[in-house]
Amino acid sequence: MPTPSHADHLEELRHRVNNRLSELAVQVAGHDAGLSEAISSSLTAGGKRLRPLLTALVCEDLGGPLAPAIDAGCAAEMVHTASLILDDLPCMDDAQMRRGQPTTHRAYGEDAAILAAIALLSGAFSTVSTLRGTDAVTRNELTKILSGAVGTRGLVAGQFRDLRSAAGAKGADPEAVNALKTGALIGASVAMGAAIARADTMRKRALADFAEHLGHAFQLYDDLLDTSGDPLVIGKDIGKDGAKATLLRQEGAAGAQVRLNQHLDAAHATLESVFGRDCRMSSALDGVFQGQAALIVRARRTEGVSLS
Ligand code: IPE
Ligand code: IPE
Ligand code: MG
Ligand code: MG
Ligand code: MG
Repeated sequence: MPTPSHADHLEELRHRVNNRLSELAVQVAGHDAGLSEAISSSLTAGGKRLRPLLTALVCEDLGGPLAPAIDAGCAAEMVHTASLILDDLPCMDDAQMRRGQPTTHRAYGEDAAILAAIALLSGAFSTVSTLRGTDAVTRNELTKILSGAVGTRGLVAGQFRDLRSAAGAKGADPEAVNALKTGALIGASVAMGAAIARADTMRKRALADFAEHLGHAFQLYDDLLDTSGDPLVIGKDIGKDGAKATLLRQEGAAGAQVRLNQHLDAAHATLESVFGRDCRMSSALDGVFQGQAALIVRARRTEGVSLS
């Protein structure tokens, strides 16, 4: 459970992220009716804001400056929102609800949804490449980190493999798919926070390990919600990934929960090796995973570990 002061701080950070996203949405959205609303409503609809919070918390815990970390995190959130718009299209997961409202293509049309996703990607790269409060070398590093997470070594490859993986298919490697489709952007969000704070190589490596475990845990959690979440609580459809070769499908809910806990424990241990006990990030993690369902709490209690 986040301690009260950490919880307050997290809420303050989330508030700052949401304010900055609203400002950036105005810049990215342009003035074309139908497109502009598709862009700004997708970006400002809400969501946990995990990725910008990761960038901000890592940078802060390393003693780096907060304002550029918030902006870089917002760029990661723009990439993430673009990926959700595309993920929901009829040719992909064919989803009806996202973040508690109709999916972008349902509300504004498939044409506007695809263009909105492209505009958000372009807005993300514009944001990091012109980031205030950093030097040119750091801006270059951030642009490289973020672009690396999107392409065929990241999200795009992961999404393609996810969509083409049929349950029971030979050679399916859901762990690799999760690392690409979800882990890559989570890794970039953490790496951008470390880059802005000018962390040394050892800390950057440890934080990359942390992000890798977090990415696996997060997608496993999301897959569990896809079978047992409440659509009204999570704000999106469930049962969209039942026919895919997910780890959940391969190992069952109990197996997936065990793996999830292992990744979460490893993430905490890696964080402790970097920051010692009781860092803001560690406290925030439990909040993220407790937020929507009792699944993990239940699984951890089974192991005799109390979260409260
Ligand atoms: C959903 O991401 C897609 C995955 C990568 C699992 P989030 O669960 O972070 O979605 P929002 O941002 O809170 O809507
Ligand atoms: C999507 O995974 C990961 C992305 C890169 C968008 P899912 O397809 O499981 O995400 P949700 O459940 O629709 O949010
Ligand atoms: Mg998907
Ligand atoms: Mg989906
Ligand atoms: Mg899902």
